[in-house]
This record gives sequence, structure tokens and C-alpha cells, in this order.
Amino acid sequence: MGATSPTPPCLNKELNKYLKGEQHPIWSAGLHRILCMQGGDDDGSYAKNSEAPASALTLSKPLLVEAIESMKLLLQLEDEEESLRIADLGCATGYNTLATVDFLVDTLSHRYKQEAGFDPEFEAFFSDLPSNDFNSLFRSLPPFAFTDHNHNLKRRYYAAGVPGSFYHRLFPKAKLHVAVSLSALHWLSQIPESVVDKRSRAWNEGRAWIDGAKREVVEAYAKQSKDDLMAFIRCRREEIVKGGILFMLMAGRPGSNRPEDQLGDPDSRAKHPFTSSMDQAWEDLLNEGLIEKETRDTFNIPAYMRSTEEVEEAFEECGGFEMRRLDYRRIVEYSKEKQQEWIVDPVSYGRAKANLVRATLRPIVEAHLGPTLSHELFKRFEKRASEDLAMLHKTCFYGVIVVSAIRK
Ligand SMILES: C[S@@+](CC[C@H](N)C(=O)[O-])C[C@H]1O[C@@H](n2cnc3c(N)ncnc32)[C@H](O)[C@@H]1O
Repeated sequence: MGATSPTPPCLNKELNKYLKGEQHPIWSAGLHRILCMQGGDDDGSYAKNSEAPASALTLSKPLLVEAIESMKLLLQLEDEEESLRIADLGCATGYNTLATVDFLVDTLSHRYKQEAGFDPEFEAFFSDLPSNDFNSLFRSLPPFAFTDHNHNLKRRYYAAGVPGSFYHRLFPKAKLHVAVSLSALHWLSQIPESVVDKRSRAWNEGRAWIDGAKREVVEAYAKQSKDDLMAFIRCRREEIVKGGILFMLMAGRPGSNRPEDQLGDPDSRAKHPFTSSMDQAWEDLLNEGLIEKETRDTFNIPAYMRSTEEVEEAFEECGGFEMRRLDYRRIVEYSKEKQQEWIVDPVSYGRAKANLVRATLRPIVEAHLGPTLSHELFKRFEKRASEDLAMLHKTCFYGVIVVSAIRK
């Protein structure tokens, strides 16, 4: 074990549990049972750490208007018993999903009133993995009403939660008029088995992710990503009515970047959470004798940044959609003021980054390490992030792929 400092008894207990084989990584078939954003509303929750997806939503709004304006009106006055049905796939909790649905309802309603002379009823489906904190989401829904006494707009759609993986069918045939998925599709359905198999050439030794990994690891991730995206498109092909819209925004990479260069822009510190400080934090636990090497090596982040070419290929192979937009864009994650604040106060930068990483990775790290060691990992991450001063001077943007398609 080679511990440099004595291991606290609580950590020893967890470590022993791991060594006795009572705790297994649940990377492949079971990932959908544990992957989720951190629920609740404390500092480490997704609700309090979703600036980047909020910027993604700001970027999406004009593109959503463009998509809605390009679609045929699917309901007519005589269809008054029908409602317009929209779904947010990978909704998580917090402001973004409610703002997305409000924006879709307002835009569609405006168009129907102007062009069809009536305002349809709306149904909104909030869909995510069963491990999502649906309770927090439902509690944050405003009460159903068209306006309140001050004539402010309140919730004007019927809401339902749909638990399940978007890589499987979630709705009956031809149910949806509009389906959107924001900042979610870069999460894979599983870590490829070969990546966590010590005997395989794709064993991802010494890394928590694929950026810069060896060819076999990258190929295994790329194949998983393609299989997943095709499963997603095939399911939506069944569920979206002819003439309906599929709009997706996912973290992605420029086409000129090879797959092993997932976030590779030397001027960006978007890499930070998934690579440098994260790998160092794991290394710290290992060097302090708190975990075994194998524990580190079997942890992998189930995310993949696709290129526009990879997305186009999947749509072409699946058929059923007419592509209206397929772009790579950059999103600046934080304001200049925030950047400046952090340069003078790197400790608060470390804290902010650790909160962000906790909000997105805590459930899967805990499933791998248990709560105590997981807490230790995030503490190491926070320290490492606040010490990485060179990183602080880089700009913080990340790349996304935006897709807008009409069901043929
Ligand atoms: C970064 S959050 C984005 C949430 C929200 N759309 C937003 O813009 O703030 C990604 C969400 O995708 C969900 N997700 C990941 N894999 C999924 C899957 N296979 N099926 C459904 N949801 C999934 C996660 O649980 C998480 O809530």
C-alpha cells in the first residue's frame, strides 16, 4: 500500500470493502441506473452549477425559432381536441429545462395564433434517466394557469415526467411534434466493456477519460458513440410525427480534430474538469495509498465529443429525417468579469470547478468509490484545480454540435 500518511479508519473500511470485492464498478450494463446530475439545490447540485448548459440554451433560442418557423403547422382549427406535444430529452432539473419548455411553448403558441388563428393546448414531457431528481424538478414547476393575477405568464402546459434512457423508446409511435435534447447526448449509454477489461488492448490504464488515449481506447469509445447515436435517431424516427422537429445540442469537437483530441484546443481550459486536474486527483489518491491502481484504472467518464461528420453519418445511415442545420459552434462558458475574479482568487476557481465536477460526476464517482473516498477525490480535485495557475489564464469555451432536422 505504500501510504505516505496514515489512512483514516473510515477510509480503511471502504478500502477493505473494495478489496474484498464487495464493491464493483458498474460501468457497462448498469450505467443508466447511476448516471445522473447531482439533485437537490445545494452548492454541489446541478441546479446551482448549470451555467454552461444555460449558455447553450441562449445559443439555441434563435435556432429553435428558426426550426419552429420552418416547420409546417401540424394542427388546424378543426383539430381542437388535439394538443401539441413537446419533449425535453435529458432534462435534468433546474432553470434550464423549465426555460426550454417555456420558450418552445411561447414560440409555438405565437406562431399558431398568428397563422392558424387559434392557440392550441400543450403537453410537455420532461424525460431523463430514472436516477434523475424528478422530485426537485416537479417541485419547481409553477402552478398551471395561463396568467396570474398580475398578468404574468405562468405554466401554460400540462406536464409529465418520462423516466428512461433516450437510447431506448420512450413514447408511442408518432406521439411528439417537437423533441429537443440540450447538453445531454455526449453522455454515452455505457463505457465500452473492452475499456475496463484488463486483458483487452483497449484497457484505459492511467486515465479517467479518452482525451489523448491510445488508438484502441478511442476506437472503442467512437464505436459506442456511433451505436448510441443511431439508437437515439431510430427511436425518435418512430416517435416524432411526420413534419415534426428534432433539435439537438451536444458537446462536440471540430471536424478537424481527431477523436483522440476530444477537447484539444490549447487555448481553452474546457479540458480541465475531465482531464488534467481529474487525472491528478486520482493519482493523489493512489500515491497516498487510499486506492489501488486498478480502482483508478477502472474509472472512466462515459462521455464522447462527436464531430459534425460523425453526426451526419449516423443520420444518413438511419434515414427518416431531413437535415436543416448541422453546425459546430463555440460557447464561452463564463463572463470576462468572472474570469478576472478567478485570476485574483484561484481558490474560489478551484471551488467552483469542484462544484461543477461534483454536480455532473458525483453519482458515478460514488458508485465506484463509495461516498467517503469520493469526497476525498473531489477535495484533491479542488486543490489541484486551484493550483493550476497557467490554466486560469486560458479562455473558457467549449464546442457544441447543433442539429435541427425535420421528420420526413
Ligand atoms: C448536463 S445535463 C443537461 C440538462 C439540461 N438539458 C440542461 O440543458 O441543463 C445532461 C442530462 O442528460 C441526462 N442523460 C444522460 N444520459 C441519458 C440517457 N441515456 N437518457 C436520458 N437522459 C440522459 C443526464 O441524466 C442529465 O440529466
